[in-house]
Amino acid sequence: MKKNIAVLPGDGIGPEVAKGAVEILGAIGERYGHKFTFRYGQIGGSAIDRHGNPLPDETLALCRQSDAILLGAVGGPKWDQNPPEYRPEQGLLKIRKELNLYANMRPINYYASLLESSPLKKEIIEETDFLIVRELTGGLYFGKPSERTYRDGMEAAVDTLYYEREEVKRIMKLAFELASTRNQKVTSVDKANVLESSRMWREVAEEVAKDYPEVTLEHMLVDNAAMQLIKNPRQFDTIVTENMFGDILSDEASVLTGSLGMLPSASLSESGLHLYEPIHGSAPDIAGRNKANPIAMILSSASMLRHSFGLEEEADTVEQAVRSILDSGRRTADLAGSGIPYSTSEMVEAIKEEILQKD
Ligand code: NAI
Ligand code: MG
Repeated sequence: MKKNIAVLPGDGIGPEVAKGAVEILGAIGERYGHKFTFRYGQIGGSAIDRHGNPLPDETLALCRQSDAILLGAVGGPKWDQNPPEYRPEQGLLKIRKELNLYANMRPINYYASLLESSPLKKEIIEETDFLIVRELTGGLYFGKPSERTYRDGMEAAVDTLYYEREEVKRIMKLAFELASTRNQKVTSVDKANVLESSRMWREVAEEVAKDYPEVTLEHMLVDNAAMQLIKNPRQFDTIVTENMFGDILSDEASVLTGSLGMLPSASLSESGLHLYEPIHGSAPDIAGRNKANPIAMILSSASMLRHSFGLEEEADTVEQAVRSILDSGRRTADLAGSGIPYSTSEMVEAIKEEILQKD
């Protein structure tokens, strides 16, 4: 199989983990006889520095000419004081919007060998397996107005949580479709006791549920959901929620696996051009030190093999290699505890060898 992959490394640890994922895909290509061509584009802070734009047209064009996109992470203190339109995160929001990447899937799986790495009790996290479906192109991160106002000597700021009914319907349908291939349960998370947008969200959930009689629907308020996630995570199968709620809940859920550096994601569009990225950010505190955990990014590339290219066995091979390496006790610093940590590149090398040695 021949595929063109756009790689947007971004900032901070983005380039370090993206390099790892490219090496792993290279190993998969070698083992299974696929030809993956990687073409690089700029996004985020590095794109602002080079092109004065967090998402240059060249990058968008490159993505559109590719079969799938791998993205590292963007942002860093260097650009924190920039005006809103020159912030790295704008690049991220814009690529999601331009490519209509409306659904961000964030699977949360437990790893038997990492049970001790989580601050939570083993009995709580064991057998955890759920999926967060985060709406990605609407909600609070995109609603207008979003601005600072100065009227009559008074400074104020506004952000808007706006959803069109059809947008909610689209993400809800996807969540029900996915739940029907999993454990037949959707937890729709909202704040319907306060927010009108959430009341509409809830109505749509009820409406869509009628088409999926085999799937159970439950509603949960987001504050309770934040608590339930770490109190009894096994109760969840498929969580569907608004953009910012999903962002926050998934960072929280990463504690179940032991580190933010473990969680991959897939951002899906209706066009079939999808983007794969870890859920973490650019981690400026550890950037440039060959310390980051590359697994979230590597698992994102496995998801790309499965969802964009239909390469199920190849995706399984990557995931299995990650599990084997963790089972053998090898860890990057975020998970090493008092043990001797592997560097980013050592971890990538170990996973790569595991992939190439298997028959
Ligand atoms: P962050 O996710 O970058 O880091 C939070 C904490 O987790 C840090 O202590 C970091 O060292 C650790 N961490 C994250 N990924 C790791 C990995 N792979 N291995 C080991 N440790 C890891 O979030 P933070 O610090 O709030 O934001 C840093 C920058 O990243 C900001 O500029 C923010 O805007 C940006 N950001 C970008 C995202 C993206 O590109 N998708 C998502 C979230 C934040
Ligand atoms: Mg986030």
